[in-house]
Amino acid sequence: MINKAYLTSGRTAEADDVYTPFYAVEPLLKYIPKDKIIWCPCDGVHSAYVKLFTENGYKVIRSSIQEGQDFLLYEPDIHYDIIITNPPFSKKDKMLKRLDDLKKPFAVLLPMNSLQGQKRFEVFKKGIQILAFDKRVDYHTNNNFKTYTKGNHFASAYFCRNVLSKDLIIEELKKYDRPIL
Ligand SMILES: C[S@@+](CC[C@H](N)C(=O)[O-])C[C@H]1O[C@@H](n2cnc3c(N)ncnc32)[C@H](O)[C@@H]1O
Repeated sequence: MINKAYLTSGRTAEADDVYTPFYAVEPLLKYIPKDKIIWCPCDGVHSAYVKLFTENGYKVIRSSIQEGQDFLLYEPDIHYDIIITNPPFSKKDKMLKRLDDLKKPFAVLLPMNSLQGQKRFEVFKKGIQILAFDKRVDYHTNNNFKTYTKGNHFASAYFCRNVLSKDLIIEELKKYDRPIL
């Protein structure tokens, strides 16, 4: 049987129910100046983005749809400099359009196959930077907040604007387990 999972990754609602491991947040740290205020718009209190950036001395604002803050409509009323998150993959076109509309630097983790798409191209043609990795990101899934689930079938990358020093960077991903709850 042909494995089509790579092609369909990120199109289903289940794909929204994955949580970023700490090790996949680490590679971003060196690209974000310490004085930048970060908004994580799809992130609850347990988000590895919120925790790791806060632990590293950044000011972080977070919001989540579970608390009534829909990223497609909501924006913090205090100043922020950059948007960082792992958004719901099934809504990536709307999320990317929203990011474009907000006109702030961003870095969002998405399946690599998000690079192609006619709607997304409207955003990408204005400029996109990619931070990719030597191996696939394995996420926390199935309510397993203790260890990441090995064997993910799709590659992920950070899709960024005005964040990286060049448009394509490929780095080694150093995996480690750290519970997110
Ligand atoms: C792929 S998960 C990642 C969660 C978290 N950012 C992380 O990295 O662990 C995407 C999250 O976005 C939330 N979400 C879905 N639609 C949203 C919206 N319109 N605005 C904000 N968050 C949304 C989902 O409930 C889910 O928790």
